[in-house]
Amino acid sequence: MKGIILAGGSGTRLYPMTIALSKQLMPVYDKPMIYYPLATLMRAGIREVLIITTPRDSGLFQKLLGDGSQLGCRFEYAVQSHPRGIADAFNIGRLFIGEDNVALILGDNIFYGSSLHQQLSERLNPDGGVIFAYHVNNPRRYGVVNLDATGQVDSIEEKPENPRSNYAIPGIYFYDNEVLDIVKGIQPSHRGELEITDVNKAYLKMGKLHVSVLDRGTAWLDTGTVSSLMQASQFVEVIENRQGQKIGAIEEAAFEMGYIGEAQLRQLAEPLRSSGYGEYLLSLIQHT
Ligand code: G1P
Repeated sequence: MKGIILAGGSGTRLYPMTIALSKQLMPVYDKPMIYYPLATLMRAGIREVLIITTPRDSGLFQKLLGDGSQLGCRFEYAVQSHPRGIADAFNIGRLFIGEDNVALILGDNIFYGSSLHQQLSERLNPDGGVIFAYHVNNPRRYGVVNLDATGQVDSIEEKPENPRSNYAIPGIYFYDNEVLDIVKGIQPSHRGELEITDVNKAYLKMGKLHVSVLDRGTAWLDTGTVSSLMQASQFVEVIENRQGQKIGAIEEAAFEMGYIGEAQLRQLAEPLRSSGYGEYLLSLIQHT
């Protein structure tokens, strides 16, 4: 299964911070935001990833992440010239996806939890589509899924005024290859975007939309506003300092997944030693 990280968008809700720099390159505590969704895909077992950025920032992402070979992965890059919506990622990624299934993760969504990676990897290569559901206090700003008594998807709505449930749909989606046809039939919404919710509705209509509820021990944070960005940084700081273990470290993910060995981890760690990040990576070798 291939992966796409959508890291486009103008980030206007973070202005002036994002006037000159992409939101997904901004720090979330001790690492760039895009590390988190990338580590999530890598830990789910996905090693081929297309990173979609604005044309302006593409070079910066490539400088940061390269071709992925240093992590035992393969990264490709593409640009979204206008914010045409999340589902546009499949048009942009059509060639990259080819005949394969695909996971899409939004570049500003952060996931953390002990059972999460297993839950994700169990859902790889679905027949149809898989969305996740996460209980939130205020679902109005998200896609919202309502489940029936048997735990199947009953309805999905994008940013409803009166949500039928408290289950928001986080920005990680797994689809079979049919998504490439589905997206061709979708019209832009009133906000001028190809909505991911319309892709999910198409799968629902075919009886092929599956949902997996993320349990309360999972953290899902988004970083779209100044306040939520700060909260995400604080969350990561608290957990990392308490546990002495990092969240979203792509080098650690590569090492633990067996994509790279000790010698390569050492090489990645060396230039990062003065911030403490490299020391952390080296400590992983000592602990094995
Ligand atoms: C998008 C999706 C929404 C989803 C959310 C997750 O919203 O449209 O369904 O719940 O991402 O972050 P947006 O960030 O475009 O407002």
